[in-house]
Amino acid sequence: MALDHYVTLGRSGLRVSPFALGAMTFGTDPGGAGCDVAESEKILATYLERGGNFVDTANFYTNGHSEKILGDYLAARPGLRDRVVLASKFFFNMFPGDPNGGGAGRGSIIAQLDESLRRLQTDHLDLYWMHNWDRHTPIEETMRALDDLVRAGKIRYIGFSNTPAWVTAQAHTTAVLKGWTPLIALQVEYSLLARTVEGELAPFARDQGVALTPWSPLKNGFLSGKYRRGAQVTDSARSAYVGGPTEADYDVIEAVAAVADDLGTTPAAVSLAWLRAREGTVVPIIGARRVTHLESNLAGLEITLTDAHRRALDEASAPDLNYPAPMHGAQQAMLQFAGTTVDGVSSEVYPPLLASNVRY
Ligand SMILES: NC(=O)c1ccc[n+]([C@@H]2O[C@H](COP(=O)([O-])OP(=O)(O)OC[C@H]3O[C@@H](n4cnc5c(N)ncnc54)[C@H](OP(=O)(O)O)[C@@H]3O)[C@@H](O)[C@H]2O)c1
Repeated sequence: MALDHYVTLGRSGLRVSPFALGAMTFGTDPGGAGCDVAESEKILATYLERGGNFVDTANFYTNGHSEKILGDYLAARPGLRDRVVLASKFFFNMFPGDPNGGGAGRGSIIAQLDESLRRLQTDHLDLYWMHNWDRHTPIEETMRALDDLVRAGKIRYIGFSNTPAWVTAQAHTTAVLKGWTPLIALQVEYSLLARTVEGELAPFARDQGVALTPWSPLKNGFLSGKYRRGAQVTDSARSAYVGGPTEADYDVIEAVAAVADDLGTTPAAVSLAWLRAREGTVVPIIGARRVTHLESNLAGLEITLTDAHRRALDEASAPDLNYPAPMHGAQQAMLQFAGTTVDGVSSEVYPPLLASNVRY
């Protein structure tokens, strides 16, 4: 597997690299934990030279500087823009005092897109994400506005990030039934230290052929290998914003380190390989503050975990899922399949049925 072994993103014809490059760290503006323009360009150049084609940013990252860094880089290299799958996001309000400066209403999406296109120096985005759920705007208004932008040629595909599963399902189904542009991908927090997406959004995505593109796949670097229980992390800009792992996180970090030792690779590579191997199309968005981070994270494409490794990691990181997920395990199979095997799921017979001869 390599960056130029592309996958189609969800139910679409869009071919993307198996790892996207996140540009949230591009720029040193206040509020970020990123790197300067020169290092950002080195990270981008390294990713593109290796065959990477999928770049993720947002209007809000480093106060718009991330988009400008990408726009300047692409504009200076004729032809390059057309080879890159460029994704950005709307939602966060960059205009203090203006309630329509952000969110997901019709006018604000159009205005946010125009600003992103200006900073990115392009006339279209390949993928436009809703960064977060706007509970003050009807979802059909958002979906219709996005469909209009697709028809106008200003965006090619759409996806949601950080939106509840019931809203996501409502939006997607409405779009499908009305012949509007459906979702092709969900950008979700997903890593060995954040698996609650497996309760609702991941099953929805699998069912509808929608791709997952996990953000913070190393949980802000906690899974990179530089966080060790009882040791101080010295080289991190992010830790000032997010603190450090919990004691429970360290249990998972140690399980990852054991697999990495076994395979002679890094915990970052193991964590990313685990994500890549989840069911369905899963395209992690790599974060890097230095070119060396990117290089070591790309090793996640080179290793293959054994079934035993995957089982050990699955068990060490098993999430507590919200109701009703706990109702859908072995007990439910026992209650509905009555000792048979269905779709590969085997079951036992409900013991009181075996104990009694009485049938009413
Ligand atoms: N939709 C959303 O709400 C949302 C939210 C967050 C991110 N995202 C997207 O997802 C992308 C990736 O997220 P992320 O940056 O949080 O990913 P991440 O991989 O979880 O964290 C990246 C950070 O971890 C550290 N790191 C990464 N690899 C390392 C390595 N090999 N060795 C040592 N340290 C390493 C670096 O921080 P330090 O060196 O400073 O410790 C780096 O900036 C973003 O760029 C953005 O595009 C989206």
